[in-house]
Amino acid sequence: MKTFLFPGSFDPFSLGHQDIAKRAVKLCDRLIVAVLNNRGKEPVFSAEERVSMAKECMSEVDGVEVIFHDGLLVDLYRQINASAVVRGLRGESDFRIEAEMAAANKLLLPEYDVILLPCSAEMVFISSSTIKEVAYFGGDISRMVNPRIVDFVRSKIAERKAKI
Ligand code: PNS
Repeated sequence: MKTFLFPGSFDPFSLGHQDIAKRAVKLCDRLIVAVLNNRGKEPVFSAEERVSMAKECMSEVDGVEVIFHDGLLVDLYRQINASAVVRGLRGESDFRIEAEMAAANKLLLPEYDVILLPCSAEMVFISSSTIKEVAYFGGDISRMVNPRIVDFVRSKIAERKAKI
């Protein structure tokens, strides 16, 4: 049983994430999409909201589970007996970050490995930060997130904007 782990903060889950997950699941028997906390970023969406958005986006794809993990990625990797982590690459700057993260994780867990999938051309400019920025100013995010979560993302960002 080959289990791949697709971790991220998914704040929110984008069409880019969806594209990587759909391609990754074809390369393994089971894909675990894991919502984690990135200590370098303050999430806009709660852990429950991020899990629920990822579940909605993955609901039509077989072989995918979505979970939340509050802790180190390598601990989850060991717990689920993962064969590899999958991460998407939009460009050169992502590669640098991913190479650093992979090296640190490998120091913690020697059997740790990572598969870096280049994102599809139409996803190169989609990031969770862009989605939040566009939604904040009332722009159209319908080509950046799954239609199932567009309204939720818009309303959550609008609600936050109203509070500021
Ligand atoms: O979507 P992101 O923010 O690029 O994902 C980064 C994430 C959440 C995968 C990373 O920050 C992470 O693994 N966090 C869990 C804590 C951990 O293991 N940190 C060590 C990474 S070297």
